Amino acid sequence: MNGQGEGEPMQLVTEANITDLAVERWRTGDDPRLGELMGALVRHLHEFAREVELTEAEWMAAIGWLTATGQACDDKRQEFILASDVLGLSMLVVQLNHRFDGAATPATVLGPFFIPGSPSMPYGGDMSDGLSGTPLYITGRVLGVDGEPVPGAVLDVWQADEDGLYEAQFAELDDARLRATYAARENGGYCVRTIAPKGYSIPMDGPVGELVGRTEISQFRPAHVHFLLDADGYERLITHLFQAGAEYLENDVVFGAKEGLVVEFEEHPPGPTPAGDDSAEPFLVARYDFVLQPRAA
Ligand code: BEZ
Ligand code: FE
Repeated sequence: MNGQGEGEPMQLVTEANITDLAVERWRTGDDPRLGELMGALVRHLHEFAREVELTEAEWMAAIGWLTATGQACDDKRQEFILASDVLGLSMLVVQLNHRFDGAATPATVLGPFFIPGSPSMPYGGDMSDGLSGTPLYITGRVLGVDGEPVPGAVLDVWQADEDGLYEAQFAELDDARLRATYAARENGGYCVRTIAPKGYSIPMDGPVGELVGRTEISQFRPAHVHFLLDADGYERLITHLFQAGAEYLENDVVFGAKEGLVVEFEEHPPGPTPAGDDSAEPFLVARYDFVLQPRAA
């Protein structure tokens, strides 16, 4: 029932009881999970305001920042996810929801630049399609935690170009740019041909960048390639591979870099490549076996 029940004493609000009153009010309704979420949210928000003695000017500034963050969002840009990323919240939610076996490849953030429906490529197919950069072959096997190959696993791969830009940051393009899907072979083997990624800055031209710019926080992500792996009977894996020795590994602005995801990019002279062809120029090879967690029953 809404409003004050008959015979209930009037609730007079004080600084001491406002939190309990608000928590109780938000726990009403017939969705217990909503009640739990909203009750805890109210409690933590109130605790925050009390801890920092939030002023009215600061409260108004926060409202202004949230408003600008919403206004920066459109169908290609998600400034709220970027905010969640730089606050470490996205990565915490990944950790809470993907407590994989120690042998499995760890998960990391999806990021805002994934585009579904990438074209499929054969083993060793080139997803960089003539873009400038050092050729890079990423190759290995897709396995389960017991070492069994996972034939048919689909690897959806995407990355930024040499200027740190993803396809999603360009106006409409006719063809997919630096993204493709690959299927693991009978023995779990896969091979991606691309160009070496570089470290890049998160978008700094919005309210998140403005806030980051008022601190000493590094705005950069270390060089990486994104992977999303899907296979029947296994948990979906969203992850990246990072180049060993890359700048910003220790201070990734979105807290996405993890030890088990850092891979050596070996330098090779011109000659035979893991895709089975011959390269006329020097190239890099990253060898990595993805290990998938069996799907929970
Ligand atoms: C990315 O890796 O694409 C990314 C992740 C979080 C924020 C910005 C970019
Ligand atoms: Fe990225």
